[in-house]
Amino acid sequence: MADFGKDSTASDPRTQYLKDYQPPAYLVEDITLRIELDPAATRVTSRLTIKRNPAAQAPDQPLQLDGQELELTALRVDGIALTENEYQVEEGKLVLEDLPDDVTLEIETVIHPDRNTALEGLYVSGDMFCTQCEAEGFRRITFFPDRPDVMARYTTTLVADKNRYPVLLSNGNPVEQGEMDDGRHWVSWQDPFPKPSYLFALVAGDLFCREDSFQTCSGRQVTLKIFVEHENRHKCAHALDSLKQAMKWDEETYGREYDLDIFMLVAVNDFNMGAMENKGLNIFNASCVLATPETATDADYYNIQSIIGHEYFHNWSGNRVTCRDWFQLSLKEGFTVFRDQEFSADLNSRPVKRIADVNLLRSHQFAQDASPMAHPVRPDSYIEISNFYTVTVYNKGAEVVRMIRNLIGSDGFRKGCDLYFQRHDGQAVTTDDFVAAMEDATDIDLSQFKRWYSQAGTPLVSAAGHYDAQTECYQLTLSQQCPPTPGQELKAPFHIPVEVALLDTTGRALALKLEGENATSGTHRMLELRENSQQFNFVGVKTSPVASLLRGFSAPVKLDMARSDEELAFLFANDPDPFNRWDAGQRLASQTLLQLVRQVQHGDTLTLEDRFIHAFQATLEHSTLDAALITQALTLPSESYLADQSDSVDVDAIHTARVFVHQQLADHLFDSFLDIYHRHNDDESYRFDAASMAKRSLKNLCLGYLMETIRGEARNVCFTQLEKSHNMTDTLAALSSLAQHDWSETDDYLQRFYQQWQHDPQVIDKWFAIQAGSRLPDTLQRVKTLLNHPAFRFTNPNKVRALIGRFCMANQVRFHAADGEGYRFLTDQVLALDKINPQMAARLVSTLSRWRRFDANRQDLMQTELKRILSAPEISKDTFEIVSKSLD
Ligand code: BES
Ligand code: ZN
Repeated sequence: MADFGKDSTASDPRTQYLKDYQPPAYLVEDITLRIELDPAATRVTSRLTIKRNPAAQAPDQPLQLDGQELELTALRVDGIALTENEYQVEEGKLVLEDLPDDVTLEIETVIHPDRNTALEGLYVSGDMFCTQCEAEGFRRITFFPDRPDVMARYTTTLVADKNRYPVLLSNGNPVEQGEMDDGRHWVSWQDPFPKPSYLFALVAGDLFCREDSFQTCSGRQVTLKIFVEHENRHKCAHALDSLKQAMKWDEETYGREYDLDIFMLVAVNDFNMGAMENKGLNIFNASCVLATPETATDADYYNIQSIIGHEYFHNWSGNRVTCRDWFQLSLKEGFTVFRDQEFSADLNSRPVKRIADVNLLRSHQFAQDASPMAHPVRPDSYIEISNFYTVTVYNKGAEVVRMIRNLIGSDGFRKGCDLYFQRHDGQAVTTDDFVAAMEDATDIDLSQFKRWYSQAGTPLVSAAGHYDAQTECYQLTLSQQCPPTPGQELKAPFHIPVEVALLDTTGRALALKLEGENATSGTHRMLELRENSQQFNFVGVKTSPVASLLRGFSAPVKLDMARSDEELAFLFANDPDPFNRWDAGQRLASQTLLQLVRQVQHGDTLTLEDRFIHAFQATLEHSTLDAALITQALTLPSESYLADQSDSVDVDAIHTARVFVHQQLADHLFDSFLDIYHRHNDDESYRFDAASMAKRSLKNLCLGYLMETIRGEARNVCFTQLEKSHNMTDTLAALSSLAQHDWSETDDYLQRFYQQWQHDPQVIDKWFAIQAGSRLPDTLQRVKTLLNHPAFRFTNPNKVRALIGRFCMANQVRFHAADGEGYRFLTDQVLALDKINPQMAARLVSTLSRWRRFDANRQDLMQTELKRILSAPEISKDTFEIVSKSLD
């Protein structure tokens, strides 16, 4: 057996370390690109104006340009062609020694977009060309110092056949265009803002354009354009609305104005990620930008609004101020996720957004933090940077920014942001620079706080309260500890904002006074936990209170406080903080479900206490609570969250317990579910607003519960909804709940759905995903069959995500089948995909990295598969990094 011993990755020669950062030897002031587009052989001519960097560490370092899969056809220095012995090309680098301090370099390369299945650099999607350069894709277009601290001004001329590619786009403003004798035409673009190479983009194709405009706060008129394939021309309205909302929001909330005369969005079908913030030319995965009520769900509409916002917000948090190196990725991504979260919260329901974000964090980021892939928000090392676009860098990174705001207050935070943008405009900076701006603007010391960037792992905060009636004092003890993570055995204490309120028996928040204060002030406090353990004494507390802790999820920690079911039920019914109210319900449900898991394991008869049913009933039938919050409250914790709460994951017992609770609630509350379903089911035409979405969400939650009962009445409700629905939200909700049952109607309706939508790839993705998400025992077999369906395409990331991704990452009970078939299936797919698209392969395989959480049998099976991948010849460094770290 091969040796999979320790440290296989730490010693990997390809590992990059933050501590090794050095400023570039040369800077590029201007780059002029001429790109002659041809799917089989595209000729790229690049002219660079280069200067030695005064900040470089040594005065005589050579110029190093990155390049990957390029054919070099010419190289000239100050107009003079170099011969092959005057430069070196090795290991992805072109090295030039002894250059003058100021020099012009001309480089000609040939690339092959039609062979590019990795979808990094320049590639072909359908009949169009497009690029993806973040993080290190520009080096697949031409030789260049492909690192974000080299910022240059770009002038780009695109040349292509006029009939096939009438639209030619790049960053900045169009400055010139013309036609050639051979049927080709050209367009020149100029981007006045210096930018790192990862923000370069081009798009070419026969595209429909919808135009709009936006007047900025200073009165400038900005032209907005969205480019899509002609068949999608009717799907652009929501994206343009969202864009205008985002532009306005960033002016009002951060004082940030757009800076070019034109802003363009493009939709492409083949895209590894959701979207990309290229300067002035944001490129979107078609699934993250196109929508009509008939083809897109509420979740899609919501997601599109937030992702359009996200990429637009990068114009300041990412583009004008960018990252010094890729270890600083959270500088732009964590901050921009925080910005898009607040954008969504302001435009829709704030509590619903917070709940959704915390759910994601708990079910994915906490799991990552507890896995061999755990890493700090600012990682210390990586082999392949694409593997570090993670929930930790993004979502925990956003929580870190949120905590800064919690600690310095909203006004202080705005001042800090103003200072950050002003101080660093046009620069490539670090997370330390970001924190320094927050400190300097407010005079608040965040030095201890910075451990959130450097230490991985989810801190556990334990809370204990003690009330003394005699002294009228409520003593709250908070302590913290953080489990070890790879390379970090011991952690220093974090600086943790813990928002607290004390509730009386009616749920009213009491006025607060801490020992030593003169008077009471406010009914909630942001306590600051800095030590391993700290005591907070609230005085003048007349009756024994119930503490509501970590309100609004004020820090990304696990909170441990012994709570009785009664206390949780009280908070679930009464906490004035909507987040904590929801959280109490989730804790109550988790405690109940984990108890049931133990019953399943002992072979006991399962029982659900009346008290639990009544607590849920009271929420369901609540007359004043927002429908969206009721939906959230009645959604049981996911199987993966319950897995994270267990010491050793028993996937089958968790599944059984959760289905049992669903069925019990559905049986006991059938009439209520049915009644509420009908009351929220109306024939209104589709509108995307918080109230209509809330209605649909509660109605479809009721439908989901009703369908757990297999009563004829429930089926009829489902079939009627499928027949009558005129929006995808209702159709998909009904079809997904139907897909959980092996009734003849299930296949009929799936078939009809396919017939109706086969022309629309985005809808067909949903059709694949519904089937892959079914809990029916033969789901894997179905997934395997669907791999051969004519609508499935292995080279299209959306198809892979819909079918394989959905099964392996979001169908816990079927993927983790005890016979290991799911693991073998995943491995076969990963090995095949790794040759086509390493980024996608690495993402898929990461689900195996949590193997240690499972029982011995599954551990063995998963390890076997991980080793099978590692021993395959020539795996990509993307996949190698995830697999080898998982086994370490
Ligand atoms: N800059 C990223 C896109 C990206 C990610 C490029 C990884 C290359 C590698 C973009 O701003 C982004 O973060 N997109 C997210 C969506 C967003 C709403 C969090 C995505 O694509 O998932
Ligand atoms: Zn981003």
